[in-house]
Amino acid sequence: MSAEIWTTRRLLEWTADYFKNRGLEGPRLEAELLLACALGTNRVGLYLKYDEIPSDAQRARFRELVKRRAAGEPAAYLIGHKDFYSLDFEVNADVLIPRPETETIVLEAVEYLRGRAKDSGESAPRVLDIGTGSGALAVAIAKNVPAARLTAVDISAAALENARKNAQTHGVAGRIDFRHSDLFAAVAPEEKFTLIVSNPPYVSRAEYESLDISVRNYEPRIALLSGEKGTEIVERILAAAPEHLEPEGRILIEISPMIAEASLELLKTSPFGHFKIINDYAGRKRVISAVFG
Ligand SMILES: C[S@@+](CC[C@H](N)C(=O)[O-])C[C@H]1O[C@@H](n2cnc3c(N)ncnc32)[C@H](O)[C@@H]1O
Repeated sequence: MSAEIWTTRRLLEWTADYFKNRGLEGPRLEAELLLACALGTNRVGLYLKYDEIPSDAQRARFRELVKRRAAGEPAAYLIGHKDFYSLDFEVNADVLIPRPETETIVLEAVEYLRGRAKDSGESAPRVLDIGTGSGALAVAIAKNVPAARLTAVDISAAALENARKNAQTHGVAGRIDFRHSDLFAAVAPEEKFTLIVSNPPYVSRAEYESLDISVRNYEPRIALLSGEKGTEIVERILAAAPEHLEPEGRILIEISPMIAEASLELLKTSPFGHFKIINDYAGRKRVISAVFG
């Protein structure tokens, strides 16, 4: 990068090409996110500095980020942020990076809770988020359904710390009760919910070994790996959920297309009815939905 005049524009062009040649998805966006971080601005700010020449220190910072990204480290961990459902979430290596396909659950949850408020006058729905991670689901639902009160559990204390911070940032901490818990262990039998949501670990051992290194080497194993089959945690959630749902309460669990059939089989022998699979924005089988009773 020496003889050229390295304006913001050229740095972006060069890096987007470099990432593209290395097979990264969304190379231009990733270049923009990293450069914005190195320059202490946002993506809009980059375009205001498009023909300016960043300082040596800023370029050195950017080079370091580009090197780490090219070695596999996810951009979200490098910059410490990820957008989810149009909200900015702080993330670190203790939590799974929220994925766009997980927004499918938020869309369903918000529509369901608003519908119940209209149809049955449900004024203060109670929602349980199992495996909250960064708090993505709990915070997005709380933000969009102001009357909802939530409980969010995770087996990782470090993840809960991150989730609490995100809830505070978005002004919903007062409505989310975060608990350190192995699934329902810290949820009393008498606690009943209108809706249970979860994006649990659902990767089988074989699939885990074949994951991209940017996932396998950087994201928490406990957030991804379920067991030999991939359905182990879904099965535990479905077995315990009836005890914690109000009559006609609903459950929404994220799955992968690989375990869709097996998950439907589990539902057929459960006390749930009206079950179906909801596709994500890319048309992939992504969420199981069922109603209790
Ligand atoms: C796939 S991540 C989902 C994180 C977040 N809800 C999201 O959608 O981005 C799964 C989360 O479940 C948590 N987890 C794994 N096993 C658990 C268990 N037995 N009980 C509670 N949480 C668990 C992990 O720590 C991780 O935060």
